[in-house]
Amino acid sequence: MDRRSFIESCAGAAACISAGAASPALAGNAKPRHYAPARLVDERGEPVRLSSLKVKANYVFHYPFEATPVFLLDLGKPALPQSLSTKSRDAYAWPGGVGARRSVVAYSAICAHQLVYPTREVSFISFRPKRARRGVQDELIHCCSEHSQYDPARGAQVLSGPAPQPLCAVLLAHDAQADTLTAYATLGGELFDEFFRKYEMKLSLEVGPNARNTVSGTAIVRELEKFCRNPIQC
Ligand code: FES
Repeated sequence: MDRRSFIESCAGAAACISAGAASPALAGNAKPRHYAPARLVDERGEPVRLSSLKVKANYVFHYPFEATPVFLLDLGKPALPQSLSTKSRDAYAWPGGVGARRSVVAYSAICAHQLVYPTREVSFISFRPKRARRGVQDELIHCCSEHSQYDPARGAQVLSGPAPQPLCAVLLAHDAQADTLTAYATLGGELFDEFFRKYEMKLSLEVGPNARNTVSGTAIVRELEKFCRNPIQC
């Protein structure tokens, strides 16, 4: 399948899923931003099977740029479509999770407040199966910096803290026959320009000269505990 056909099939699938689900009216004027598709693979280059993901575990891959981290989560429960909006009031229709249970979601792991993100050395942001110390409930993505909390079952909408918008969603296509996952677009408030401006020097040391290269072909998925030496719990 060429790239254009792939994107059209993904967009069609998302539209069908959204239309078929019982959900609020999904009016949105912000559209997905398509990037080169990247199949999710493990460290050996083998495709990640959706059914092999641990439920409620933090996985990280990088997309759409080599330096921009993404959380991949199997929530173990359906994540249904949501109507959301960015801080500049652009409405968008998040299509919900993928897979038979619609439980698998992906979001940019860059906090929408001050752009905290997981690095190989430390991570102050992650999904918490159990309530964080300053948390409002279980099963939220929690940023320890100023305690913004996002609900990954609702398009990463903000439930508490200073974040002005949901985490930017990364759209996934699930090949039900092969049980594989492919990232192909973002949806919502991208913060990549701000991210690269803020961390230009740091990223050049962490990732090197390819930090702003777009990912294509494959993206390696790792558990957060294997990707990062110090996942902070707060
Ligand atoms: S950077 Fe995440 S809450 Fe401030």
